[in-house]
Amino acid sequence: MADKNLPTEPYKGVRDFYPDDMAVQRYMFDVWSQTAESFGYARYDASVLEPAELYKAKGAENEELVNEQTYTFTDRGDRQVTLRPEMTPTVARMIAAKRKELAFPVRWYSIPNLFRYERAQRGRLREHWQLNCDIFGTDERAADVEIIALAYQTFLNFGADPSMFEIRINDAAGMQTTFSDANFFDLSAEQSRRLRKLTDQRRKLKVEDFEVGAADIFGADTHKTNLFIKSLDCPDPASYLAWISQNAQNPVENPLEYTGYINASEILDGLRTLGITNVVFDPSIVRGFDYYTGVVFEFFDTDPANRRALLGGGRYDNLTELFGGEPIPGIGFGWGDVTLRDFLETHNLLTADITAPTIMVAPTDPSLNIAGQKIAQEIRASGLSVAVDISNRKIGKKITAASDAFVEYVLVLGEDEIASGTYSVKNLTTGEQLSGTLEELCEQLV
Ligand code: HAM
Repeated sequence: MADKNLPTEPYKGVRDFYPDDMAVQRYMFDVWSQTAESFGYARYDASVLEPAELYKAKGAENEELVNEQTYTFTDRGDRQVTLRPEMTPTVARMIAAKRKELAFPVRWYSIPNLFRYERAQRGRLREHWQLNCDIFGTDERAADVEIIALAYQTFLNFGADPSMFEIRINDAAGMQTTFSDANFFDLSAEQSRRLRKLTDQRRKLKVEDFEVGAADIFGADTHKTNLFIKSLDCPDPASYLAWISQNAQNPVENPLEYTGYINASEILDGLRTLGITNVVFDPSIVRGFDYYTGVVFEFFDTDPANRRALLGGGRYDNLTELFGGEPIPGIGFGWGDVTLRDFLETHNLLTADITAPTIMVAPTDPSLNIAGQKIAQEIRASGLSVAVDISNRKIGKKITAASDAFVEYVLVLGEDEIASGTYSVKNLTTGEQLSGTLEELCEQLV
């Protein structure tokens, strides 16, 4: 006997998937993969183990993720190994490895299990599954529009109405330029880094705290501080640039082109052409990864119960450079199962059925259990799902248990049925009864 019983809870921040959870998860993964495939995306996968250097390399670096959130260990061969916290470096590695064989543009998707040492809270766990859809080998705006339209369509395929979520778009390069360029906010590299971090936390901070943080970064320049705070409400890239350059000594001639914000502008137009109207420009969208080089986006639930981003992504044109050769442009997004389930539950969209066999064979006596298995085997051959109730319960209890487990039909098996070769199945919802040989029954039920 052990001194102390082991706890039955899983490790902190991870989940057990009981059959009811698996049914929901399978439904979510099915909608994810069917939608990705309907857009022509091919599925790939890789191991959860990656060399730690993949996340430490320059360009792939995200300080918080690498230093505080990875599960990294030394293996028996003295190698540093990381449980992958995201899929993008892995897929960039795979694309770079086959760059000569692939016919670009490549459209790929995957549903990996990811691990991050985060403080567990609503929408954030230490383990999650994440739909990743990416296009490689093109920097056409049509690819950016397509990837956002794919995520949008997936929401509709879950039964969501566009009023239930909102798409927010910004541009990583544009943000960098407007923060540091002398014609706009003219910040040092360090101020710029701090302002990005503060902007990223905007949603979690009280308005006053955010404003105090901004004033601290801009120092004595209260005018710029106010300009910055108000700029976050500008409805499109053109008015944002006009607003923040109003006091420039020599305003740049074509600010949309100059900053690269032309891309976000064209993408917003492209999405509206596809009938996607729940999309807004939001200069406060900062993605946590340094590899984004162009448009960045996040989807949010319009219900305040779920405040965290449902999904996020963007364009990253240089990541494959880490592996040598000319960079291959990429754009994609990651969408977690935790935030998706919260969204579906909040909006009553979870219609996944609990998986139960269609028929339960219920022997009237345990001595008939093997005969029951034989009958189940024969019915299964016609494509129906069948299980046998091999418990010692009375027949009435077996029927109630089958009904409680959402089984559709029950076949009561006694000596008489075996002797005559004629069986009856009862529909547990309607009470309707069908009788005949196994063959006849299967024909009617399939
Ligand atoms: P990310 O913003 O870190 O991006 O994660 C994307 C989504 O994954 C989040 O919006 C959320 O739904 C989910 N997620 C992230 N961390 C957790 C967590 N600890 N618990 C539960 N869900 C979580 C990326 O990972 C990028 N690599 C996405 C990408 C793909 N960019 C281009 N291609």
